[in-house]
Parts: sequence; C-alpha cells; structure tokens
Amino acid sequence: MSDHMTQPAVGAMADPAARLALTSGFEATPGATKPDAILRVDNIVRQFGGMTAVDVQHLEVQRGLITALIGPNGAGKTTFFNLITGFDKPTTAGKGAHWEFDGRTIDKTSASSVARSGMVRTFQLTKALSAMTVIDNMMLGAQDQAGENLFKSMFRGTWGKQEKENEAKADELLARFKLLEKKHDYAGSLSGGQRKLLEMARALMSDPKMIMLDEPMAGVNPALTQSLLGHIQNLRDEGMTVLFVEHDMHVVRHISDWVAVMAEGRLVAEGSADTVMSDPAVIDAYLGAHHDTDLGDDALLTDEALEELAEEVAAEDAVRQAEEEAEGPK
Ligand SMILES: Nc1ncnc2c1ncn2[C@@H]1O[C@H](COP(=O)(O)OP(=O)(O)OP(=O)(O)O)[C@@H](O)[C@H]1O
Ligand SMILES: [Mg+2]
Repeated sequence: MSDHMTQPAVGAMADPAARLALTSGFEATPGATKPDAILRVDNIVRQFGGMTAVDVQHLEVQRGLITALIGPNGAGKTTFFNLITGFDKPTTAGKGAHWEFDGRTIDKTSASSVARSGMVRTFQLTKALSAMTVIDNMMLGAQDQAGENLFKSMFRGTWGKQEKENEAKADELLARFKLLEKKHDYAGSLSGGQRKLLEMARALMSDPKMIMLDEPMAGVNPALTQSLLGHIQNLRDEGMTVLFVEHDMHVVRHISDWVAVMAEGRLVAEGSADTVMSDPAVIDAYLGAHHDTDLGDDALLTDEALEELAEEVAAEDAVRQAEEEAEGPK
C-alpha cells in the first residue's frame, strides 16, 4: 500500500465544530461570497431552444466542505454540472460567462483539461464501460497521469512503471469500495449500486481536489448507501471538496455542510440544510414541481402529524366552501 492511503491526511474541515463555526459565518443568500471559494461561477446561462435550463448569475463553493445542490426535477442541476465541467457550453460563452476553479479560469477549457485541473465529476446515469473489466475502468480514470499510451498498453498487456503504480492505487480504492473481488469482472456484470461505487472510485484515481457527484445514491441499496455516505464524508475529512446533487433530503441533511437550491434554472436559496428546507421559496419550488417530495424532517412526519395536517386541510376547505356559499354564485 502506498503512504497516502495508509495514513490519510486529515483536513482542517474534519472537525464538525470547525465546519459549523465556518458556515455560520456565511450569508444564507443565493450567490453568497465564501471566504475560500474553490469554485466561482458567473453568468452561466444555457438555453435549449426558447427554454432557459440554467441561469446562474453567481455561485461560490467553499473549499473543503460538502455542498449539496438540490432542486426539483428539471431544475437544471445536471445541465449546470455539464456546463462547468466542459461537457456542454453555455449560451453566454464569450458573452460574460466566466468560471474559475482553484484560482484558474476554466471557462474555455475542454472536459479533459477541467478534470486535469482537479475537478472531476460522476454522471447521473453511470458511465462505467460495461464491456471493460473493473480494473480497466479504474485505469482509464488515471489516464491523465498515464497519457494516451494507456489504451495501447492496456491492449498490449504490458504495463510500464506508471501503470503498475496506478494499478496499486486502483487496488487500494477498489478495496475501500469493497470491489476488489470484482477486479477482473466486467463492469456490466455489477449491480447498479456497485457501478455507482466504481464510478466514484474511478473518479478518485486522478486525485481530484473537488469531486462532483450527480445523484450518487440513486439506485444504490440501503446498505451500500450507508457506506457510500461514509466514503463521501471521509473524502471531505481528508481535505477534498465535494459538490453533490441529491434528491433524498434525509441524505442531504445527514452529510451536507452547506446547501444550494436551484429551481427553474436559477439559484433560489443557499444555507444550512435546516435553513433552506424551512425556506418558503424552497418549499414552493418543490411543491410546484415535485408534490411527493419529503423534505426529510423525520420528526415532523409522524402519522399523528399527517392526520393533523389532513384535518387542517379539511377544516380550511370547509371554511372556503362556506365562504363561497355565503358569497353566492358569481
Ligand atoms: N440536451 C437537452 N436538450 C433539450 N433540453 C434539455 C437538454 N438537457 C436538459 N434539458 C432540459 O433542461 C432542463 C434542466 O434539465 P436537467 O437535466 O439539468 O435538470 P435536473 O435538475 O438535473 O433534473 P433531475 O433532478 O430530474 O435530474 C429540463 O427541462 C430538461 O428537459
Ligand atoms: Mg439531473
């Protein structure tokens, strides 16, 4: 095992009290400035035909924290990820769109150079290559270090020094994600949850400074979800910045240090999980588009609370009906 795994570095943000002290100083408004932003985004607009999918005027992501990006279906979260990682181009490209990562402007950069600058992402629909083995998928994740020769050497079956080092690193990551036994299996034979883990492990092969996860828990069974959450928290504790998209509000409450909310392409709220989930604008955005969303406060969702809610609604309906009858036909 190499040193970086046996003795994981502990980042400044491993301490919950330190995180709370830091984030309590952030303004809970969309586009709030952060004392040490690793990612700064300005004027990113993406239109599809006449429809504006993304219109983010300003967003800063603090280094070393877990930031959740939430919002109802179609809010523009995945499109936003695509734009800032170079997989798509903003309509405002060259017309005011600007974003920088770790002090470097990356708005005219290709997806692979964005990844090389230390910002890697996973996909909502997993992109593990089914017809390749687990280890070959991992080796592809390291391609930035190994260069183009990786493909050739993979097919030649002769791996140089760099590839051997990468394989050792891949083994460590696979062990960490409980996939080592599957090392030589085809990625296509893995369960949906295991493929999510593989995708995350692969993203970590390039030692990113920030990892962006698009719905990492979707399709993952509850047992794996727990360990995936643990992995994400460990990454933060080791000093990595995490930006993740998630629909499950229990997960969001459980692991995020800060939450940004998108609705209809715009950033509509930012704050701690508790703050944003009690924000009327956020509740409206969800109720408008996503009626069945449970905002994740278990305590409020007892059977009694639901009965009370049903009674209140019935009472309000009765009052409204009585008023309408009193007013008579219009
Ligand atoms: N390539 C495309 N062409 C046309 N419209 C698109 C394209 N990609 C996304 N959209 C539209 O842009 C809007 C934002 O979609 P996006 O996938 O970014 O939302 P999302 O917040 O990731 O949603 P979900 O939570 O369901 O994943 C949607 O209305 C979607 O239909
Ligand atoms: Mg999406």
